[in-house]
Amino acid sequence: MFNQLALKIGLIFFLVILTVEIILFYILYTNLVNDRVEEVMGDLLARGNTHRDVLEENYTPSTMNHVAIMESESDFIVVITDENGEVITSSDPVESEMSSLIEHTDYGEIPQSGAILESNWSEEKYVSTDSPITSNDTHSGHVFMFAESDSIERIIDHLSRQFLFVGLLTLLLTVITVFILSRVITRPILKMKKAAEQLSKGNHNVQLYTQRKDELGDLATSINRLSQDLERLKNERNEFLGSISHELRTPLTYMKGYTDIISRKNISMTDRDKYIKIIQEETEHLTDLIKNLFELARIDHNEFDIRKESVVYGDLIAIVLARIHPALKQKNIKLTFDCPENLIVMVDPARMQQVLLNILDNAIKYTPEERHITIVVSQNKNEILTTISDNGDGIPEKDVPFIFERLYRAEKSRSRASGGSGLGLTIAKEIMELHGGDIRVESTPGKGTTFIISLTKEDLDEQSIVD
Ligand SMILES: Nc1ncnc2c1ncn2[C@@H]1O[C@H](COP(=O)(O)OP(=O)(O)OP(=O)(O)O)[C@@H](O)[C@H]1O
Ligand SMILES: [Mg+2]
Repeated sequence: MFNQLALKIGLIFFLVILTVEIILFYILYTNLVNDRVEEVMGDLLARGNTHRDVLEENYTPSTMNHVAIMESESDFIVVITDENGEVITSSDPVESEMSSLIEHTDYGEIPQSGAILESNWSEEKYVSTDSPITSNDTHSGHVFMFAESDSIERIIDHLSRQFLFVGLLTLLLTVITVFILSRVITRPILKMKKAAEQLSKGNHNVQLYTQRKDELGDLATSINRLSQDLERLKNERNEFLGSISHELRTPLTYMKGYTDIISRKNISMTDRDKYIKIIQEETEHLTDLIKNLFELARIDHNEFDIRKESVVYGDLIAIVLARIHPALKQKNIKLTFDCPENLIVMVDPARMQQVLLNILDNAIKYTPEERHITIVVSQNKNEILTTISDNGDGIPEKDVPFIFERLYRAEKSRSRASGGSGLGLTIAKEIMELHGGDIRVESTPGKGTTFIISLTKEDLDEQSIVD
């Protein structure tokens, strides 16, 4: 019922509050007790002084008797002595404790305003005061006032009982408060713990209450976001695995089919050559696919090194153009190329060639014969932009947002016929992002497609155009 965290927090709270309460109660209690005792002693002395004042006016046996009779009805005891401490009269019988106190009093020490002789109420039977009588400038006697210590003890007992009651009530309230407080603090934490356990078990549909405006609310929001991310990742992984298995199965099915045909006895040499060629193509396609997948895996694991160096951009593009030349010729595609002379860029040359090659390869593959491709390199204050446009069929509008996704092909059958697996642009985009740049696409169905590769200039240091 009481979890460990709540118990720990509760105990710490409880001990701290209890200590504070005990200290406060102790200070309050001792102050109150002292005040009460001082009050009683003050009263006693004031009473003695009043009698003394009367006696100083009228130092006669009848006045003394009056005083004694008056006090005989009260809780106090008055003892009137002469200047040597010999008892003249008293309101009650003088007990031995009283006489020893009177005998041990050093009269020279007592000031005219009177003094407390005994205030130790906890050990002595009586507390007492002494008010010296001075009539006609001569020291003529003493008014001793006594009060039973029991009366003070009764007051203190009453006070202690009240303190005990209030103390117990406070303790009870403290326990209840601490219990509620520790539950309030630990409940959301426990819920989050359960949510994290659910996440680790693979149940990514956790929803925590996130309206709190404090750190616990922030934590709950983070856990919710984590659960959504995990769910998305799981879906993406499943989709990717599904696509991959499909991509691998297709060429293998072709290969198996054609090897079966070839292994038949009655097949002609021409057919056999034709099928062997198809098998070769499919093998190449499979090899490319696995190579690309491997590259993506390396990018995902941050093992993909980008070694930037300054290269003349025009020369780098020229190398790529030389490679695609046969394909251009085959499809009778015209290519125009415009790049500022001696423009230096900081790139990994092999990777940059890979990006350009993929985009140009797409432009050739997905463009009908006798069309046109243009490459224009331009620069503004912050970027170098490489625009590669073709006037082919373009990409259907619904596909444009997805073409950079893994294994995504716009026109599945046509792309597959061209040997594509839908990984080229994914890799190209990753490479550009690793360079601190990007790739965008603009496409109008029926009119053509434009890819814009941007490279930020901050990497280029001082060199941009060398003379
Ligand atoms: N210039 C283009 N014109 C028309 N469609 C294009 C063009 N470039 C890309 N696409 C579409 O975008 C898809 C994704 O291209 P991507 O380069 O990623 O894959 P692919 O060319 O099919 O395969 P891979 O490059 O891995 O061999 C292509 O399948 C194609 O449908
Ligand atoms: Mg491609």
